[in-house]
Amino acid sequence: MEVRRRSAKVVTFGCQMNERDSETIMGILSSLGFEESSKVEDADIVIFVTCCVRENAENRAFGNLGEMKRLKEGNPNLVVGMCGCMAQRSDLREIVRARMPWVNLVFGTHNIHRLPELLERVFAGERVVEVWDEPDEVVEGLPAVRAYGHKAFVNITYGCDNFCTYCIVPYVRGRERSRRMEDVVAEVCDLAGSGCVEVTLLGQNVNSYGRGLPPLPSGSSPDFADLLHEVNLVDGIRRIRFTTSHPRDFSDKMIEAVASSEKVCEHFHLPLQAGSDRVLEMMHRGYTAERYLALLDRIREAVPGASITTDIMVGFPGETEEDFQATMDVVRQARFDAAFTFIYSPRPGTVAARMPDQIEDEVKHDRVYRLIDLVNSIASEVNDELCGSIVEVMVEGPSERDPSVLSGRTRTNKMIHWTSEKAHNPGDIVMLRVSQTRTWTLYGEEIEGRSGHRGALTCDGHEAAGEEMQGRTARSSGLATDGRCDCNDV
Ligand code: SAH
Ligand code: SF4
Ligand code: F3S
Repeated sequence: MEVRRRSAKVVTFGCQMNERDSETIMGILSSLGFEESSKVEDADIVIFVTCCVRENAENRAFGNLGEMKRLKEGNPNLVVGMCGCMAQRSDLREIVRARMPWVNLVFGTHNIHRLPELLERVFAGERVVEVWDEPDEVVEGLPAVRAYGHKAFVNITYGCDNFCTYCIVPYVRGRERSRRMEDVVAEVCDLAGSGCVEVTLLGQNVNSYGRGLPPLPSGSSPDFADLLHEVNLVDGIRRIRFTTSHPRDFSDKMIEAVASSEKVCEHFHLPLQAGSDRVLEMMHRGYTAERYLALLDRIREAVPGASITTDIMVGFPGETEEDFQATMDVVRQARFDAAFTFIYSPRPGTVAARMPDQIEDEVKHDRVYRLIDLVNSIASEVNDELCGSIVEVMVEGPSERDPSVLSGRTRTNKMIHWTSEKAHNPGDIVMLRVSQTRTWTLYGEEIEGRSGHRGALTCDGHEAAGEEMQGRTARSSGLATDGRCDCNDV
């Protein structure tokens, strides 16, 4: 008799941190004998890895958890789990506990490694809710089922100490902890050994990497620049990306490390958030518009052709039309390759949620539309300038919309589509001449030979939905890996 193997589906919302956590969760489930299911309907265990950065993200997760009631009625043995950032919030946990009895496992961002024990208790019939308020030491060596073979996310820091006044992340991800440099490099080496050619180093603020780590022989603690140099040495890796950078902490030494490390891609994601110094101060960002723009100048000087993308928020409490115009001004001056635009969403427990002068929805929407129009027109001009240029592209695979078309990314993280006579695999590097441009996407023709690079950033969810960024917002941290993007606050 054939024994059906048990299967599991991990559904991810939120940012790359969650995507990486989902790989670990699937790795643990796989080590317990579960195989990956392509559909929620076929799985014996479904785990939702949630995000609470904006209210939309929460609503989407609650919607998905709610739909599980029906599946559970048809399959009483189904295990429904909820973890991730929403699980860290006691108010949201309470909603699940009281109103969603079909969810029988809740764990947090700090105790993923406890999943085997927790599941054992669930299988014994218990409804398990275990969330740690504080992280333990960094746990190394957990298994992972990676989403891709040719590219991978590598955590370099966990948590965040910045406490920007609008942001929930420090509350749900804990204090900032850096992984030891040797552990990061060992993971990159392992990945390279299994055929991975592109790594993205992940942290809420990669530029503060190293704080609190033991000193190097030179006496100073390692920093992000040191880490880039080390990762650049790993054989087999062809591209190194990093996200997210904090404008306050991007030192000249780090710019120099990017400029001098040939595998490090010429793309900087530098969240601006706002262009008014008054609002930046209320946000607790630690820089002024002038300092931000000066940083862009230094980057563009040291790394010619660099693409610069950003996150911008409208409707922060007290934001006046004048403040908003200051944001528009900075956008005009910065000429971003792409910007993820967000409507401020009050997060319970944060300082900004308690501030007076919360902005009405109508005003927020009006501002975000105006901002998006500006961002798009600039992005389109910036891309136009690339027409005719030669770009180095890493093949991602067939386009989701049209399998006869290939999709890839430039070093500058722009999505490009082309057709090829040749059989290409994900991770192959090809040279393309840019033949047409759109606001968020390039089109190209394959050419022989080698040369330069450079060149919109698309949300993969939007790419799946259309060749050009549809609608009006993009994402940074809001992409659910089910291809839907939580950035559509508008
Ligand atoms: N660590 C990164 C990003 C974290 S969250 C950074 O410092 O930039 C990703 C983006 O979501 C932020 O850059 C911000 O633009 C947006 N965001 C965070 N909290 C938000 C809130 N309460 N409402 C709307 N957008 C928010
Ligand atoms: Fe940290 Fe980024 Fe949130 Fe600021 S916006 S608190 S840096 S995660
Ligand atoms: Fe968490 Fe990332 Fe969302 S850290 S709150 S999943 S943006």
